[in-house]
Amino acid sequence: MTDGLVPLIAGNWKMNGLRRDLDELRAIARAAGAGAGPRPEILICPPATLLMAAAEICADSPVRLGGQDCHSEANGMHTGDLSAEMLADAGAAYVILGHSERRAEHGETSETVRIKAHAALRAGLTPIICVGETRAERDAGEASSLVAAQLKASIPPHPGPALVVAYEPVWAIGTGHTPTPTEVAEMHAFIRAELAADLGDRAARVRLLYGGSVRPENVTEWAAIDNVNGVLVGGASLKSADFMQIVSAFE
Ligand code: 13P
Repeated sequence: MTDGLVPLIAGNWKMNGLRRDLDELRAIARAAGAGAGPRPEILICPPATLLMAAAEICADSPVRLGGQDCHSEANGMHTGDLSAEMLADAGAAYVILGHSERRAEHGETSETVRIKAHAALRAGLTPIICVGETRAERDAGEASSLVAAQLKASIPPHPGPALVVAYEPVWAIGTGHTPTPTEVAEMHAFIRAELAADLGDRAARVRLLYGGSVRPENVTEWAAIDNVNGVLVGGASLKSADFMQIVSAFE
């Protein structure tokens, strides 16, 4: 549920997408521009190679763009990396940080994520900070303590109202397995309370996204939950029809 916040429906294309796949983004931009009613905010995070072309496609549409990671420095001797400033220059307004795939494949820690979030804010990007437990951690009853520790260490001290937090249980990503609505409701209420302890009143303005096997078939479950202010969608964001069905659940 929106809790007075504009819901954010974010697509994370991960390492998927060649220029020909921009046709899906064109379809999303067209659909997002149609219709008169209030729409959720729509965000697509394509691979960085497509950002500039994506920015041209979305120039006259409400669709926003984001990166999937950034370096902490603005520029310098960091072969293969991209700075937050570069993403902003290419047309991004957001950047996903601390996705579990980056934590697992690139050894990113919550401390790294906090430094990158600081860089994102410096460049005028809104960070989407990802947290979430593994299956073993949930089974051991450690999901909330793990998420609390990730939040505490990943969020910079003065994030501003633009911050977004995505709860993505690692075991739900790309698996078709999802937590129950009750488990998501409990975790999102817990995250809101943890943020309030650190950020005070500003915590109420932070959008909390659920991510992990969000599909057109299950999205209405997530959209109905308190403190779920949108979703972070992987596989189902690659097809415009699926993604726009997910968007419409939040209208
Ligand atoms: P899936 O929607 O493919 O499970 O991916 C979720 C995700 O990791 C989004 O960042």
